[in-house]
Amino acid sequence: MSKIVIGNQKMYMNKEDVEAFSDMLKNIDKTNKEVIVCPTFPFLEYYNGIVPVGAQDVSINDNGAYTSQVSASQLKSLNVPYCIIGHSERREYNHETDEEINIKVKKLLENDITPILCIGEKLEERQNKLTETVIKNELIGDLKDLSPASVEKIIIAYEPIWAIGTGLTPTLEEIDESMKFIKEYVTTTYNVSKVTVLYGGSVSDKNIDELNTVESIDGYLIGGASAKKDAFAYIINSQK
Ligand code: PGA
Repeated sequence: MSKIVIGNQKMYMNKEDVEAFSDMLKNIDKTNKEVIVCPTFPFLEYYNGIVPVGAQDVSINDNGAYTSQVSASQLKSLNVPYCIIGHSERREYNHETDEEINIKVKKLLENDITPILCIGEKLEERQNKLTETVIKNELIGDLKDLSPASVEKIIIAYEPIWAIGTGLTPTLEEIDESMKFIKEYVTTTYNVSKVTVLYGGSVSDKNIDELNTVESIDGYLIGGASAKKDAFAYIINSQK
């Protein structure tokens, strides 16, 4: 099955970088893989006709006096098909809660936008063998009151927080275990036949070939390396 490659370009790029990037993405072979790019709001339209895009967040509100926020219906009106939510940087810097993330999941689905839901544990949680408990609790909160049909539409990105931007990753066995745990938990708890689970956290052109050997990984959410043209191109080309 072809893998999904999602670039979370965070706040890394200016107009010139985005333009150079869109040229690379226009010319790269995208057969047998799904490439999605998530730039900051001003650049969402730069990838039009080249690759599907995702926003990096959405408001919990529908409409109104919320300076700086962007609603799901605004994203829909721009034909944005995906949106990252619950990223650990938002959970940490913006104190985003599972309750708010649950509202965001619902707003996105109501507007036919696919949520890319990020979950993952902190280092001390892993050291205390709490990885599965943390993941499970996030899923319980983030997917609260959703129908099986809704849960099936969501892309889950497992991103151990200690692996994000650090150059550290869990072992391939540990990633495989977490992928399988999430798939098993979601399919049985929410009564769905399948769920898409990505791995994220220090994915790069250096480790992608070994990550590609883990069959349970349905794709990747890539931060730093998705803002480096050659590294991102290498990762895309490595998906056969
Ligand atoms: P990273 O970030 O690839 O730079 O570790 C991943 C992410 O935050 O989505």
